[in-house]
Amino acid sequence: MTLLELRDLTVDYGRVRVLDALSLSLRAGQVVGVVGESGSGKTTLAKAVLRTVDSSAGQVLVDGHDITRLRGAALRRWRRSGTVQYVFQDPLRSLDPGIRIAESIAEGLRISRVPAAVARERVESAVQAVGLGTELLDRLPSGLSGGQRQRAAIARALVVEPRLLVLDEPVSALDAASRDRVVQALIALRRSRGEQLGMLVISHDIGSLAAMSDRLVVLHRGRIVEDGLTRQIVADPQHPYTRRLIESVPVIDIRFPNRPAPLARS
Ligand SMILES: Nc1ncnc2c1ncn2[C@@H]1O[C@H](COP(=O)(O)OP(=O)(O)OP(=O)(O)O)[C@@H](O)[C@H]1O
Ligand SMILES: [Mg+2]
Repeated sequence: MTLLELRDLTVDYGRVRVLDALSLSLRAGQVVGVVGESGSGKTTLAKAVLRTVDSSAGQVLVDGHDITRLRGAALRRWRRSGTVQYVFQDPLRSLDPGIRIAESIAEGLRISRVPAAVARERVESAVQAVGLGTELLDRLPSGLSGGQRQRAAIARALVVEPRLLVLDEPVSALDAASRDRVVQALIALRRSRGEQLGMLVISHDIGSLAAMSDRLVVLHRGRIVEDGLTRQIVADPQHPYTRRLIESVPVIDIRFPNRPAPLARS
């Protein structure tokens, strides 16, 4: 079943076209990686899906439901449903430095008036789902490492049980060890949630995207220049821009679909 579909999505900032007729689809249970260099339009794509920027043409469909032109009360109702959740490029944007991790994660549940005992259980299961221990819940964000903070931000998005998670550069700010832990957490999440969850993961780092994505979409100056199975794109990139991205990474580890071992490039 198609969870997210973009049809010729176009976004302009004033007279500058930032996304130009983008089309892509993501099935339930799938992880699609969007890769492109800084300024290629990745965050704008996320914002168009989240409906925090308006598109000038085209459509965004979630579960077959056209959300492109929702306004006012209808848009607020859609947001409250929690169907699509966004994890910011900077995790500190979703974790208030003065508020304990447990409360930050529970915020979405408090808004929808979930009873405290139920909320506590859901918060605990969300942090466990991203590989964090529940002892972190009573700390402030300053008491967590960068990788733990990023996973707490993911838990915060997960706790409202979204159908689609949009992650904007989830590992870019992290060192190699933390990056690997976040990638592992996302891989574990796709296994445990199966068809209940789809993920659109945005990054300029094709290496970490390839490790968790079924498909890659390559964005270059607001246009999709390549879209296909991760394995095919890495083994046989068609566009020179994709080739350059791949050449910038020494070894690309591909696990999906159905590929357990790392693929070393010559
Ligand atoms: N609010 C805005 N007004 C005008 N131009 C904008 C606005 N936001 C982004 N842009 C421009 O749109 C283009 C795409 O920006 P976007 O943030 O989507 O890129 P990105 O791929 O996420 O980059 P990065 O990897 O650095 O996060 C850039 O040229 C940027 O300067
Ligand atoms: Mg960005």
